[in-house]
Amino acid sequence: MKLEKIKLTNFRNLDEIEIKTNPRLNLIFGPNGSGKTNFCEAIYFASTGNNLKGRRQRELINWDSEYTLVKLATANDDVVVVYLETGDRKELKVNSKNARQSDLRSLIPTHIFVPGDLYIPKGPPQQRRDMLNRQLGLLSADYGKRLSEYQSELKKKNTLLKKDKMNEEFLSVLNERLVDLGVEISLKRANYLQRLNERLPEIYGLFGPPEEKLSLHYAEDISPESSKEELKALLMNQLEENRDREMKQETSVVGPHRDKFEYRLNGKNLRKFGSQGELRTAVISTYLAYLNLYEENFEEWPILILDDILSELDRGRGESFLENLPEAPQIFMTTATRDSAFKKLSGEFSVLRINGGKILQK
Ligand SMILES: Nc1ncnc2c1ncn2[C@@H]1O[C@H](COP(=O)(O)OP(=O)(O)OP(=O)(O)O)[C@@H](O)[C@H]1O
Ligand SMILES: [Mg+2]
Repeated sequence: MKLEKIKLTNFRNLDEIEIKTNPRLNLIFGPNGSGKTNFCEAIYFASTGNNLKGRRQRELINWDSEYTLVKLATANDDVVVVYLETGDRKELKVNSKNARQSDLRSLIPTHIFVPGDLYIPKGPPQQRRDMLNRQLGLLSADYGKRLSEYQSELKKKNTLLKKDKMNEEFLSVLNERLVDLGVEISLKRANYLQRLNERLPEIYGLFGPPEEKLSLHYAEDISPESSKEELKALLMNQLEENRDREMKQETSVVGPHRDKFEYRLNGKNLRKFGSQGELRTAVISTYLAYLNLYEENFEEWPILILDDILSELDRGRGESFLENLPEAPQIFMTTATRDSAFKKLSGEFSVLRINGGKILQK
């Protein structure tokens, strides 16, 4: 998927921007606070409906305006328009027809990488879970569907656990549904980890010593070979064991929403023993492995948005990252400094200078 044109109106500090994009690489330079992240966020928002900063969509509208508009024209001649008003009215259109967010997500698949992602291997378990959910959600629509079903059942259960008089029968029904959905989610995760692990050592070797073997694992005993029955029994058992705890804490504490994953380097838990560089390289390798899998699945690439990544990498790693970026996808990459690592860039690219919310196309 590639974008040909981007038009933004009143999107955060970017009041009016209209640019033609490069099919390969778009480098966005500008000082701190100029609007680089906002530019990335506009593309990401149109695709996913999510903000990068803050949670409320209306925060995306320029402070002095009543609405914002993001218009994207794709290389396949589709035109996507996302319109948002301060009153939270939102319209999504593809070729002038009303569309849903899921249509946009599949029409303009994007993958974003922000500096905070480099801390995923070291951070709390939720960060690794979220990363896997994001990646799997884009690889498999079915996974995304199962996960949102699971989350909606989980919400019901948490509401129930907070009630003074709890309906035990309803709790059992919900637990059964959560187990069914949970097992499917866990198996899909385990399968995905296996496919990632087939690629991780080689990709990690591009950055570090080739004899080091990186892998990402379920901390629990779940593997793609586990049978559904086995996993159902395991999860049911855990739910039974934690029943009192869940009642007491008034929240659900077992299931895929609490799954833990760990990176291992030569079998050792990276979170405990890894150096900063090893931790960062682990996540970059995972992103590259995921992109390979994505391409293998769909025979096309998502749009890559790389916001300020190089600022957190040392020179050698930044250069290796740029050298190993896949050739085919369209990339939007921001930086506040004209880093010497860019000298390593080959092929065609465009440079956009951004200052005070305005883009000057070069
Ligand atoms: N809704 C809004 N309306 C107007 N301006 C906004 C809005 N939301 C954020 N801004 C402003 O947009 C400016 C640019 O933010 P942005 O994060 O895009 O900068 P940046 O170029 O990525 O900077 P850095 O290099 O520090 O990451 C900030 O000064 C911020 O205050
Ligand atoms: Mg920024």
